[in-house]
Amino acid sequence: MKKIFFLLFSLIFISCGDKKSEPFGKATDETLVDQTEVAVDPTLALGEDLFNGVGLCKTCHLPDKKVIGPSIVEIATIYKEKGGNMVEFLKENAEPIVDPTQYEVMKTNFAVTKTLSDEELKALETYMYSFLK
Ligand code: HEC
Repeated sequence: MKKIFFLLFSLIFISCGDKKSEPFGKATDETLVDQTEVAVDPTLALGEDLFNGVGLCKTCHLPDKKVIGPSIVEIATIYKEKGGNMVEFLKENAEPIVDPTQYEVMKTNFAVTKTLSDEELKALETYMYSFLK
């Protein structure tokens, strides 16, 4: 069920665009009711907000397709496999382990991520890990 949720959620998310504040609660379908429950996990919700909002991460990181940056799934998979620390990476305290050749592009975002609290960075990490199957 979780797998389906994340897939569906990504889709809904993309299709809703800026209208994402529209409550999912309108749906009567059982699957969508499930989504509402998961979406209120505060850490995940915060991570999602930051990722798509102030962090602008969405511009370069799509769920499972490489655009300017590696996909969220690719990053989360590699971090999990290698036991990487995303929070430290986003504070510029840890070396890139996904695509060091493109590190300069990602580096420009530290201006934003360094203004975030540990809690907010952890929320971003939680959100990115939530895409793993
Ligand atoms: C301008 C495009 C761009 C934006 C915006 C962007 N990234 Fe990236 N990101 C990249 C590129 C390119 C890479 C690949 C280079 C690398 O691995 O460091 C990357 C890599 C990463 C990695 C893997 C780093 C590693 O260990 O190699 C993480 C984690 C990441 N981004 C998180 C984020 C988060 C969180 C945000 C929002 C705060 C964000 N990115 C915004 C382009 C971007």
